[in-house]
Amino acid sequence: MKSSVAPSNIERSLGDDDFIVTKTDAKGRITYANRIFIALAGYSETELLGSQHNIIRHPDMPRSVFKLLWETIGTGQEFIGYVKNMAKDGSFYWVLATVTPDRDAQRAIAGYTSVRRKPRPEAVKAASALYQTMLAAERSAGTRDAIDAGAAVLRTAMNGKSYEQFVLAL
Ligand SMILES: Cc1cc2nc3c(=O)[nH]c(=O)nc-3n(C[C@H](O)[C@H](O)[C@H](O)COP(=O)(O)O)c2cc1C
Repeated sequence: MKSSVAPSNIERSLGDDDFIVTKTDAKGRITYANRIFIALAGYSETELLGSQHNIIRHPDMPRSVFKLLWETIGTGQEFIGYVKNMAKDGSFYWVLATVTPDRDAQRAIAGYTSVRRKPRPEAVKAASALYQTMLAAERSAGTRDAIDAGAAVLRTAMNGKSYEQFVLAL
């Protein structure tokens, strides 16, 4: 289910010691959400379970970031990234997310776990500026070429660093 919520300028934030945790099946459907996620996102546990995380997708997030996320975790690697999310009331909150694949006894990917914590304000500022540029590039490229255009902006910003090195230095 995609959200039809209108974004507002009200910002919420995680406490310094808070962790948001969710788990999904291999298709990305939420199978577990901790109390802090439920409180911040503003959806009931019933609304969240079985939904995709795009229920909290913020329109300011570039598509190419999620493309990279799915590519990375789909090949069994860990993904780290700054994400702006939108709660049910339209307010937003930034997180530093680490998404890792969960494996079954045969080592096949059975689902994913995401743990998010409060990002440093300077990193949010940098990520926010970068995402605005990526989003603008995606919009002007048009639907078909959007992902490539956003990814090209990201590659330029990375300036030879690996994605992970770049993100952790923001
Ligand atoms: C474990 C896990 C956690 C995710 N967490 C978020 C999240 O916090 N916010 C978000 O917008 N998308 C998150 N996603 C990505 C969404 O599945 C989705 O790709 C994204 O919201 C873009 O939506 P769309 O593919 O419908 O455009 C997560 C995916 C996984 C597998």
